[in-house]
Amino acid sequence: MHHRAPIQSKLDIDALEATARAKLPRMVYDYYAGGADDELTLADNRAAWDRYALLPRVLVDVSERELSTSVLGRTLAVPFAVAPMAYQGLAHPEGELATVRAAGAVGAPLILSTFATRGIEEVMAVATGPVWFQLYAFSDRGATRALVERAAAAGASALVVTVDAPLLGNRRRDTANDFSLPGDLGVGNLDGLEVPGGSAGVSGASLAAYFGQRVGRSLTWDDVDWIGSIAGLPLVLKGILAAEDARLAAAHGAAAIVVSNHGGRQLDGVPAAVDVLAELVDACAGAVEVWVDGGVRRGTDLVKALALGARLVLVGRPVLWGLATDGETGVRHVLEGLRDELDLALALCGCRRPADLGRGHVRPAAGSGMR
Ligand SMILES: Cc1cc2nc3c(=O)[nH]c(=O)nc-3n(C[C@H](O)[C@H](O)[C@H](O)COP(=O)(O)O)c2cc1C
Repeated sequence: MHHRAPIQSKLDIDALEATARAKLPRMVYDYYAGGADDELTLADNRAAWDRYALLPRVLVDVSERELSTSVLGRTLAVPFAVAPMAYQGLAHPEGELATVRAAGAVGAPLILSTFATRGIEEVMAVATGPVWFQLYAFSDRGATRALVERAAAAGASALVVTVDAPLLGNRRRDTANDFSLPGDLGVGNLDGLEVPGGSAGVSGASLAAYFGQRVGRSLTWDDVDWIGSIAGLPLVLKGILAAEDARLAAAHGAAAIVVSNHGGRQLDGVPAAVDVLAELVDACAGAVEVWVDGGVRRGTDLVKALALGARLVLVGRPVLWGLATDGETGVRHVLEGLRDELDLALALCGCRRPADLGRGHVRPAAGSGMR
């Protein structure tokens, strides 16, 4: 990347969120923005990045820079991806189609949720970059197998299995609003799928009820082995916080883990992902790639994650705010803005590429209480 001109990011994610909030029905905004219980983890996800300070190196030639990174054995143009987020059709009529086009424009992979409003085939048809499939494994193995095979046949190039949601977290805002999907929105990936309990009931039904009846509560490491054996795709486990689970993930053949608390939407009171990141990187000792998400809103947050050892960073809600505000253009604005901020922060750290970042570039911020 040759940036001769100054890099001026106009990205203001808080302002975008305010615009999205004004446009969206309350029920939808709360579903997107909210977290579980007292939203302690949700708030900490944002605050945590500020507890780390950057320590730049100087007098490094940063005239030529490169943001590309090796992930799952292939080269990505940027070291970030769009996190799996359900029901994007609530933000914009084009839903995931707009998101995947914007992601492709910056070369960021899109992770398509099991509960996407658009099905994987429709998304692949307009995709110009990698699409990975996020799996909520069903209690019923036949249904799970059908979904995995469908995603692989459609061209998904990795399977991201979410492991932090055997039950849905207690999302008080959704209960208060009686959150449900409008009848005219479907869940494309479940069309035609034989799920015991039926898939037709997704629309209209409350999310918690649907989830509770069909998504597997009994999932164990044996199921991870089984899913790995049927997928034929690199396996990523999303939602790991404990070092021992990171080691188990490596032992069970995962190619990557996502250090994540599900955007504060599952168990409230758990640490921000960034606070356990270095420990999990050390625990895995290079056996798996370590990815991270939660509360990333600035290029400097991306730099901190990469410096602490993350290979890839997932970006969640900012994408929804861009989508709600201005569809594909809005998502592009968010992803291009983050890319430009990352490029600038990297250069100012004295690094030419993400792989140049290391632990020496980050330390506890003064007053963070960390030693
Ligand atoms: C509205 C919404 C829907 C989500 N749906 C899913 C999902 O279907 N599967 C999943 O694994 N994670 C889901 N997540 C969690 C995200 O993948 C990600 O972990 C989290 O949003 C990252 O935090 P951030 O939003 O602060 O960037 C969802 C998050 C949001 C905000």
